[in-house]
Amino acid sequence: MEAARPTKLAIVGAGAVGTSIAYASLIRGVARTIALLDINTAKVTAEVLDMSHGLEFVPRADVIGSDDVSVCADADVVVFTAGAKQKPGQSRLELAEATIGLTRSILPGVIEAAPRAIYIMVTNPVDIVTYAAQKISGLPPNQVFGSGTVLDSSRLRFLIARHCGVAVQSVHSYIIGEHGDSEIPLWSSASIGGVPLLQWKPLPGRPAMDAVARELIQHEVVHAAYTIIEGKGATNYAIGLASTRIVEAVLNNEHRVLPVSTLATGVDGLGDVCLSLPTVVDRGGAQAQLDIPLSESERAGLVASAETLRGMQARFGL
Ligand code: 2OP
Repeated sequence: MEAARPTKLAIVGAGAVGTSIAYASLIRGVARTIALLDINTAKVTAEVLDMSHGLEFVPRADVIGSDDVSVCADADVVVFTAGAKQKPGQSRLELAEATIGLTRSILPGVIEAAPRAIYIMVTNPVDIVTYAAQKISGLPPNQVFGSGTVLDSSRLRFLIARHCGVAVQSVHSYIIGEHGDSEIPLWSSASIGGVPLLQWKPLPGRPAMDAVARELIQHEVVHAAYTIIEGKGATNYAIGLASTRIVEAVLNNEHRVLPVSTLATGVDGLGDVCLSLPTVVDRGGAQAQLDIPLSESERAGLVASAETLRGMQARFGL
């Protein structure tokens, strides 16, 4: 029998986010080769050395890196993290101009080197960058999608879990829409161990999961990145883990439901825009979006989020 071809993950951008994805992927044994591409030769060389010195302690892998796009050749998955850094107080949407320009200049060369790869856009504002990448690449929409609200949903699950006193893995809840200020938590379909969150009775000694608690949690999720950027200049670990989870879903053909950013075909009336909805992710990339039930206010929030994003797309001539 022919041996399976070794898998290759290429990461564009060796900054805090790109290297955190590489590091998480290395520890989890996601791919046989992890390739880093960055224009800063000294930085990419140092990052490769640093990670290579730990290869003894992780599942078998090679880490390579270069300032030359050929390092991405024949990758199975490309994760795109290159972009401008969000400054304290700056919104993700304010980064759009710089990152769209960068995507235009870098992405075509990477696609030439890895034409069959699944492309996962992580650079912010991720929904706009994903939409731009779909246009620039001309690739089918399933092949180019964004990390979307996978991270925000994990922040939401963490906060619900901590409030209710259960494991984060036992909480099911999604943030949908923009990865940014207009995102929407889906309280109506959130659940813990099969119990709808809206019917949750607090465990002994735990506070109620009432409207006030939900409001506070929503506020904390939406402002999480601002809080972290104030304190340490960037967010990197959780986005590293979240992106790695998406890469695994692709490389292992998992059919995993993840709120990634794709063209919003799953809900009527949203129009031509990329945003996050629960979506089946497998070796073919982002496949079917789920038709998740929405309350009236959740639907209104989603429509408003789509409008915000469409306005940005228009502003940048997309
Ligand atoms: C985050 O949400 C900044 O988008 C990044 O952590």
